[in-house]
Amino acid sequence: MEIIVRENAEIASKQAGKYIANKIRHANDIVLGLATGGTPVKMYNELVRQHKEEGLSFAKVSSFNLDEYIGLTGDHDQSYRYFMNDNLFNHVDIDKSKTRVPNGMAEDIPTECAAYEEDMKNAGGVALQVLGLGTDGHIGFNEPGSSLASRTRIKTLTKQTCEDNARFFNSIAEVPIHCITMGIGTIMEAEEIVLLAFGEGKADVIKEMVEGAISAECPATILQMHPNVKIFIDDAAAAKLTHLEYHKYVYNNKPAWQQF
Ligand code: F6R
Repeated sequence: MEIIVRENAEIASKQAGKYIANKIRHANDIVLGLATGGTPVKMYNELVRQHKEEGLSFAKVSSFNLDEYIGLTGDHDQSYRYFMNDNLFNHVDIDKSKTRVPNGMAEDIPTECAAYEEDMKNAGGVALQVLGLGTDGHIGFNEPGSSLASRTRIKTLTKQTCEDNARFFNSIAEVPIHCITMGIGTIMEAEEIVLLAFGEGKADVIKEMVEGAISAECPATILQMHPNVKIFIDDAAAAKLTHLEYHKYVYNNKPAWQQF
């Protein structure tokens, strides 16, 4: 795990955006795994800025989103399809037919989930997966107790996640309690992972993810087993890390060839 601690969410998001943009520039075709929620918005803003001002093209990008609420249509303003169109796809030259978000309106959920996995496999797998982090340790919507080997499937959101996400809805009663999410096993197959987390509300779970024992109790701890993970966090989210100074020291002393 490479821990990159920056002063604030703006700076960290811009840096993560630049990192991802460079990956897109240097690949012929690239399959991205994408996340929604409050955290990645500024990173997507940076990608859009680079498209508009620096010629970053998404023509050869295809994507698979982590998750979608069950019961929301793609034009519902809180669906994750809507979020992706609104925050990224509508503003860049991506071919929308190559962007996938699980269909939360599918009549046959297990078939939808199996097809999603199959499509990812046929696309060659995810090269770079973007993740946020739930306050309860979820990645995707793999809530505590999720199998560390799980594949794309239905999950029931915890009360804590519903409360966290109620800020995007008119009331907690409107937050769907079911979703389709890539599994932890699915996420772990990405060649590379970029996780973002900001604010003091994420400080406890960042500490647990980086320093805790690997356990389904905090699904994000499995990322300790992935060979290529970058964690972009701000000072507030990093505040409880035991080895904070060491992580900063490592970052500040990267050999030139490792810098990005
Ligand atoms: C979203 C997702 C979730 C969020 C997490 C953090 O696609 O998979 O894991 O990343 O709930 O959400 P925010 O960023 O709103 O704090």
